[in-house]
Amino acid sequence: MDVRHACELNALMRTPSYRIAVVPADGVGVEVVASGRAVLEAMQEKSGGAYALEWTEFPWGSDYYGDTGRMMPEDGLDQLRGFDAIYFGAVGWPTVPDHVSLWGLRLAVCQGFDQWANVRPVRFHPGVPSPLRASDEHDLDWVVVRENSEGEYAGFGGRNFGGRMPGRRLAVQSAVFTEEGCERIIRFAFEMARTRERRKVSSVTKSNAQQYGMVLWDEVFRAVAGEYTDVESESVLVDAMAAKFVLRPQDLSVVVASNLNADILSDLGSALAGSLGLASSANLNPERRHPSMFEPVHGSAPDIAGQGIANPIGAVGSAALMLDHLGHRGEGDRIRKAVDQVTQDGVLPRDLGGRADTAEVTAALIERL
Ligand code: NAI
Ligand code: MG
Repeated sequence: MDVRHACELNALMRTPSYRIAVVPADGVGVEVVASGRAVLEAMQEKSGGAYALEWTEFPWGSDYYGDTGRMMPEDGLDQLRGFDAIYFGAVGWPTVPDHVSLWGLRLAVCQGFDQWANVRPVRFHPGVPSPLRASDEHDLDWVVVRENSEGEYAGFGGRNFGGRMPGRRLAVQSAVFTEEGCERIIRFAFEMARTRERRKVSSVTKSNAQQYGMVLWDEVFRAVAGEYTDVESESVLVDAMAAKFVLRPQDLSVVVASNLNADILSDLGSALAGSLGLASSANLNPERRHPSMFEPVHGSAPDIAGQGIANPIGAVGSAALMLDHLGHRGEGDRIRKAVDQVTQDGVLPRDLGGRADTAEVTAALIERL
């Protein structure tokens, strides 16, 4: 064997390989996941053997529900368990009630794999008009850290009194806050703040009105903040934080909030950055006992699905977060840079006021890697 061959073989043997489960699911989820996958494959080729991905696609979602009565097979979690990461599109279609599709697949995976930290960067891209005036004067960039395992989406409650006269049924939906659940996500937010230029954590609750769970959250926040004296901290009520996103976004770095509050705030953040189609998201099991899941923030967008015009940037950004998680931040950064170049060059999909379709944006991203 000559030297060159030996080197190639060596490089081949050193290439870490990851098994990725792909669940495109419904609507534009299918279109944007195909785009993210194409970008990751191109990045792999250009990375000189930094990593290799082995994809396995699962046909789960609302069509699957139509055929089988389930969003995923009964042993779905077992099928996913051995993967290094899950790349997810979006669930939800008019043929299946939303609470059935969400609980039957996405929430089942998040809870089943204890993906308790949901990281949702709010990124402002050059060349994308933002409704925020502050975006002209400041480099805006913050992260919403969402408690992803309990709170308002714990799934506790019930319905009853179905036999009463119409109009008299009853439903209880309880929010569940545990000290452990609050502490781990708040600590996660402080650790993340330490890696950022602005070391600051803003905690969001509605503890004036929700006097049990959210007061417990506030107490835990104060205790943890006391350990991180090198990080600025503040507690803000959620309604005030919604206003702050618009009026003082330059004051934000890491925003940590409960499941529902962070869900709402992250959509607001991405809309301020230009569109929901831009926002990416990582559902992390930080202990790495289970695979983590990476998905765009948006849903299945039935109003534009099947037309090939969905904005793939949120899904591509999520793919970059997946590379970060697998230990290839350099390649993740290259993808984020390519995204900024594409928007800067004005290759914009329709939701950002441009004319490029999904395939054109994808091709432009791959060209700039
Ligand atoms: P949505 O995020 O699907 O759409 C909201 C608006 O944003 C629509 O006007 C849509 O056209 C636009 N939009 C979303 N993604 C886009 C993209 N990539 N490019 C361009 N425009 C985009 O939210 P909606 O309409 O409330 O829900 C639709 C379905 O998605 C429902 O069944 C809902 O339950 C589900 N859903 C699923 C989520 C998930 O799987 N993580 C998250 C949110 C909603
Ligand atoms: Mg949401």
